[in-house]
Amino acid sequence: MANQEDKFKKVISHAKEYGYVFQSSEIYDGLSAVYDYAQNGVELKNNIRDYWWKAMVQMHDNIVGLDTAIFMHPTTWKASGHVDAFNDPLIDNKDSKKRYRADVLVEDYCAKIETKINKEVNKAAKRFGDAFNKDEFISTNPRVVGYQERINTILTRLGKSLENEDLADVKALIEELEIADPLSGSKNWTDVKQFNLMFGTKLGASAETAMNLYLRPETAQGIFVNFLNVQKTGRLKIPFGIAQTGKAFRNEIVARQFIFRMREFEQMEMQFFVRPGTQKEWYEKWKEDRLKWHLSLGMRAENYRFHDHEKLAHYADAASDIEFKFPFGFKELEGIHSRTDFDLKAHEEYSGKKLQYFDHEDNKSYVPYVVETSIGLDRMFLAVFSNALQEEDLENGTTRTVLKLPAVLAPTKAAILPLVKKDGLPEIAHKIVEDLKWDFNVVYDEKDAVGRRYRRQDAAGTPFCITIDHDTLEDNTVTIRHRDTMGQQRVKIEELRDIIKQEVDVKTWLMRM
Ligand code: GAP
Repeated sequence: MANQEDKFKKVISHAKEYGYVFQSSEIYDGLSAVYDYAQNGVELKNNIRDYWWKAMVQMHDNIVGLDTAIFMHPTTWKASGHVDAFNDPLIDNKDSKKRYRADVLVEDYCAKIETKINKEVNKAAKRFGDAFNKDEFISTNPRVVGYQERINTILTRLGKSLENEDLADVKALIEELEIADPLSGSKNWTDVKQFNLMFGTKLGASAETAMNLYLRPETAQGIFVNFLNVQKTGRLKIPFGIAQTGKAFRNEIVARQFIFRMREFEQMEMQFFVRPGTQKEWYEKWKEDRLKWHLSLGMRAENYRFHDHEKLAHYADAASDIEFKFPFGFKELEGIHSRTDFDLKAHEEYSGKKLQYFDHEDNKSYVPYVVETSIGLDRMFLAVFSNALQEEDLENGTTRTVLKLPAVLAPTKAAILPLVKKDGLPEIAHKIVEDLKWDFNVVYDEKDAVGRRYRRQDAAGTPFCITIDHDTLEDNTVTIRHRDTMGQQRVKIEELRDIIKQEVDVKTWLMRM
C-alpha cells in the first residue's frame, strides 16, 4: 500500500465494506466521531472484550468484575477532579472559524520536524548500507541533533505552560512558530481557552427540580465508589483488583482518525488496590503484564512501545502509555497509571464515608493506593483491524486482500462451502454447520466459484474454509484451508471441531503470555 494515508483510507473503507464499522446515523449524513459496529464488528468487539476479561478477571483469583451505571451522582465528578480539571486547551481560527486543540497544533508541528529526522535517517541508511548505525547517526549528525533539540525545546515549553495554566504562553508559542490553520492557512488566532470535555444532561421531569448530571468520562469512578461494597461482600484481601468494561463519553474537539478518538467509546479498566508504599512495584508489574497480553495476540513486538509521562494527570504519581503503531504512527493504546490514594481520599472527603481497608497483617486501617490499567476497546479494535489488513502479492501474479485477524478474535471462525450446489454436498455442509455452531460462529456459503468464496472469506477475516467435495461422499473427509498460509489439509469431518478449537481457543493464545 502506497503510504500511511492510503493504508488508513483502505482500513476505513474495508471496515465498512465487510460489515465491521459504520458511521452512526449515516442516512442523515452521520454524526461526527460517533460510530456503529456492524454484524462482524460487534463479534470482533465482543471477542476482544472477552479476551481482556478472561485475562484480567477469570485468570486472577484476586480480581473481580463489576458493571456500574453510566449515570453517577454529580458529586462524583467534583471529587474526582473532572469538573475542575478535565479540560482541553482550545484555540479558534478567526478566519476559518475552525476550533483546534492548541497542544495538538504544537505537537503536529513537532511531528513535521520528526518527519525531517526520519528522512535524514533513511537517506543515510541508503548511503551507508550495512555499516549504518542508526543510534550513532541520530546522536551525532548535526542536522538531526538540531532538529531533536528544537522538538525538545518546544515540547518542554508547551508542557510547562500547560502545567502552569499559562494559556497566554501557549498562544505565544503558536504565534512564534507561525503555525497556520491546517485548513485555511490563516494565522489569525483567538486566545487559548480551557474547555471541559464532559457531556452534561439532566435527570428529572421538571426544569426546576431536574438534577444536572454528566455522562461518565471514564468507567474508573464506578469502581472507586463501590470499592468498599465489593471489598466487604467479596471478602477481598489487599492486593486485589476490580475490573469493568463499559461506555464512556467525552466531548472531544479533535475528533478524527475514525474510531481512534470518539465521543462515545468503550473502556476496559482495572483498578488494583495495594498497600501504600508498594505502588511502584505493582505499577512496573502491570506495565509488564499488560504488554505481555498485547504480545500474546502475535501483533509483533516492534509495533509497541512505552511512553512514560513527564506531565502527570492530577491524580497520578507515575503513568505510562502502551503505544501502538497505527496506520498514522505510534499513538496511545492503553494507559497504566499509578493513581495514588487520590480518588478514594477525595470520595471520603466529599461523601463523608470512610473508604478504608483494615489490614489484619499490619493491624491498621489505611486508604489503599491504586494502580490502574485502562484500555480503549475501540482503539484496540482499530489496532487489531488495521494491523490485520494486508494486501499480498501472490505467486500467480494476482494480489489478495486478507484480514489476518488473530484467530481467537475473528468474528467467524469457519466458512463451510459445498463445492457445488448439488449431488448432496449442500446437505453435508449444512450438517457440519449445525454441528459446529454449538462451539463456534460459522457461516454457510454456496454462491460463486470456490476460489472467489475463499477470497471473500480472506477479506472478511475468517481463519478457516471447509470445503465439501465429491470425495467427501466416499470417505467422509473435507478440505480445510488456512487463511494465512492458504495451505490445505484433508481431514475427517469428526476431526474438525478439535482442529478449529486448538487454533481459536482463548487458552491457546493466553498461554503465550
Ligand atoms: N481512567 C483513566 C482514563 O480514562 P485515559 O488515558 O483518559 O485514562 C484510557 O483513557 C484509554 O481510553 C486510552 O488509552 C484510550 O485507549 C481510551 N480512550 C480515551 N479517550 C478516547 C476516545 N475519545 N476515543 C476512544 N478511546 C479513547
